[in-house]
Amino acid sequence: MESKVFDFIAKEQERQDKNVELIASENFVSDNILKAVGSCFTNKYCEGYPYVRTTGRTGRYYGGTMYADELEEYCCDMWRKVYNTDYHVNVQPHSGSQANFAAYMSVIKPGDTILAMSLENGGHLTHGSAVNFSGKLYNMVFYGVDENGFIDYEDMENKIKEFHPMVVLAGASAYSRIIKFDLIKEIIDRCVTDDYPRPYFMVDMAHIAGLVAAGEHPSPFGLADIITTTTHKTLRGPRGGLIFCRPDLAKKVDGAIFPGTQGGPLMHVIAGKAICAEEALTDDYKVYARNVVKNSKAMCDEFIKMGYHVVTGGTDNHLFLLDLSATHPNLTGKMLQDELDKNHITLNKNCVPNEKRSPSETSGVRIGSAAMTTKGWTEKDFIETARKIDQIIKSMNI
Ligand SMILES: Cc1ncc(COP(=O)(O)O)c(C=O)c1O
Repeated sequence: MESKVFDFIAKEQERQDKNVELIASENFVSDNILKAVGSCFTNKYCEGYPYVRTTGRTGRYYGGTMYADELEEYCCDMWRKVYNTDYHVNVQPHSGSQANFAAYMSVIKPGDTILAMSLENGGHLTHGSAVNFSGKLYNMVFYGVDENGFIDYEDMENKIKEFHPMVVLAGASAYSRIIKFDLIKEIIDRCVTDDYPRPYFMVDMAHIAGLVAAGEHPSPFGLADIITTTTHKTLRGPRGGLIFCRPDLAKKVDGAIFPGTQGGPLMHVIAGKAICAEEALTDDYKVYARNVVKNSKAMCDEFIKMGYHVVTGGTDNHLFLLDLSATHPNLTGKMLQDELDKNHITLNKNCVPNEKRSPSETSGVRIGSAAMTTKGWTEKDFIETARKIDQIIKSMNI
């Protein structure tokens, strides 16, 4: 049967082939991952888990799951290898948001307090936005960044002492510097008293998970109690989520995913996640991750050389934020995003610290190197693109 859908797919493929992709949360998966996600595993219902050891329950609720069971066990084993960890892993979250929902549900109740990075300073929607379940269900309090845009660890410590959160959350969608997981653990240790039992230290490493896997960013394993991630950003896998946790929290985390917040797992995506883990373990991937950071730094430095203001004055990872508010006060992030779209350069508008505009306008843009590094771009290509973006901004005459 003919389907109109294949026209949309062909046009989207052409767009992805032609455009310069600088959205920091996107990437291009391998043919193997595409094949796995489009495989017959999409037909299989597998509510439950293949393993009995952590849940203490019977595994699955349907018959015919023998190959799905093998696949899911293999996927879990591979992810533990990627992070060289004995943490429990649940590979079923349908997305990063589902992973965060279940992670909260596993250790706290609605109304309990979570301390997270504020959204205007780089936190994610699921870290306490008022329009998201996180902001509606939990008492969210926030730490921010200092005057240079770096995480304000002193503010974090003060907020822990003031609000006694049950979860301290680290991780962000738009933060270009190393997150000091070891320092956060130390801060938490210092704050614990007879009146304030140890909070859960949760890390959402969605953006940097690939860099952590390759040793390009410090690891939260061994420090955090619960770690969530997406698989589709720097990890370059299929769209989806993962939750890692201390082994003693496994039963709670598994129960929070199924039956707590999800039904049947997407086994075709779990197949893609397993290949993503295989790929993350290769030497090629380590070279890729190193180049992602190198390319991001090269492009960022070029913008600085041309007189642009970069939040924190640089980057340690796959992304950086251009703050246009001082250099181009009349140019919004949205205007620049739209103009670049016309020039086949794709990125997203982004709030900057002390943002004066709404999230739909913004005074900045976020730029990431993960996707184009997959396409083989080197520092030279990123530098040339920085110059091209500068030319486009100049031609806007704003
Ligand atoms: C830090 C962080 N956590 C969670 C998510 C949510 O992931 P998803 O879009 O898969 O729900 C994102 C997505 O951008 C993110 O940046």
